[in-house]
Amino acid sequence: MYINYLELQSFRNYHSLKTTFSAQVNIFYGQNAQGKTNLLEAIALLSYGRSFRTKKEEELIQWGKDACYLQAKFELEEYPFQVEIGISPKEKRLKLDGQPAKNSEIFGKIPIITFAPDDLQLIKGGPQFRRDFIDLYLALIEPKYRFIYYNYYKVLQQRNRLLKAGVHNPNELEVWNEQLIEKGSKVIKYRLQFIEDVKSFIADAQYQISGTHELLTLEYLGFKGSVLKGMPEEEIQIRFREELQQVKNNELERGITLIGPNRDDLRLTIGDAIDLRIYGSQGQQRTAALALKLGLIDKIKNIRGQYPILLLDDVMSEFDDQRKQQLLKVLLASAQTFLTSTSKSDFPIINEEAYFYEVAEGAMNRVQ
Ligand SMILES: Nc1ncnc2c1ncn2[C@@H]1O[C@H](COP(=O)(O)OP(=O)(O)OP(=O)(O)O)[C@@H](O)[C@H]1O
Ligand SMILES: [Mg+2]
Repeated sequence: MYINYLELQSFRNYHSLKTTFSAQVNIFYGQNAQGKTNLLEAIALLSYGRSFRTKKEEELIQWGKDACYLQAKFELEEYPFQVEIGISPKEKRLKLDGQPAKNSEIFGKIPIITFAPDDLQLIKGGPQFRRDFIDLYLALIEPKYRFIYYNYYKVLQQRNRLLKAGVHNPNELEVWNEQLIEKGSKVIKYRLQFIEDVKSFIADAQYQISGTHELLTLEYLGFKGSVLKGMPEEEIQIRFREELQQVKNNELERGITLIGPNRDDLRLTIGDAIDLRIYGSQGQQRTAALALKLGLIDKIKNIRGQYPILLLDDVMSEFDDQRKQQLLKVLLASAQTFLTSTSKSDFPIINEEAYFYEVAEGAMNRVQ
């Protein structure tokens, strides 16, 4: 799976761009604020149908312009297809092979894994970052999870609305409780399965990048921080019902749902002892954040039969030489990869399949 053509009109600082890519490694280098990350954002947008940087899509339109347009041509097992996105302040339109399409038809058709300096939040930030990580990549691996999550989320919102407005009749809440338990337990079941499925891949990625034998462990924390492991759905439901009962008064008082997938977390430890969030060194935290993402490469390859595209923003500058070399080895052996850096010398790659592009002031040019 790869992208071989990208066209941008009035997108961020790109007035107009048309370019082709290597099916292997593509390197965007240039000074700060020239448009390197904007390119990765455009590629991700064409795969996910949304930006990884902003929810406000009008920010994507070049200042002073009315609308922006993006187009990509992808290759999927010899079948080319084309995605187009047009965004104006009023609306976003998607097309798949020239026909109007919904976001769900485009989302993840070509899986993309992104990594940016901000992903350190996966380790250092609040639980929301880790939940979003699970939810996004779970949806890529298991497309029906999007609907499972969405169904839960709708119930959660309605239950929260009721709690906030004040519950007058306890039966009213009961109805939503059962819905929340049913839909929420499904979400938890899928998440637990996801962690089970990916943890060895992520541990391998950690070994490879760090070049050490640090074992990275992932544990799902549900129901007020207890470690949950693969459980049958009925068991999750029973536990959910009990926990909900316990927090009932507290929920009524605070007017918000206090138990369920919207409160859960992922704990990451190195060896048996170090909770990375609290004790990890800066380098360990960075490596683990990257391992979380790169571990998914092989998992996606396993499930979909093809490698995902990787977008790695500014990773090289963060690692020592040994980790850099290790990382490049991993990347060269896998998928189509896009890397950005302020310095061309970050990439000691001698490989004719690696294309270098110099990015300056919203323009990019391939150089040898
Ligand atoms: N809607 C927009 N219209 C025009 N320019 C924009 C728009 N949004 C962002 N920019 C500009 O795009 C420029 C490049 O942004 P980008 O984040 O791609 O830089 P970069 O090359 O990745 O830099 P760095 O090395 O600092 O990460 C910034 O100067 C920013 O002001
Ligand atoms: Mg950048």
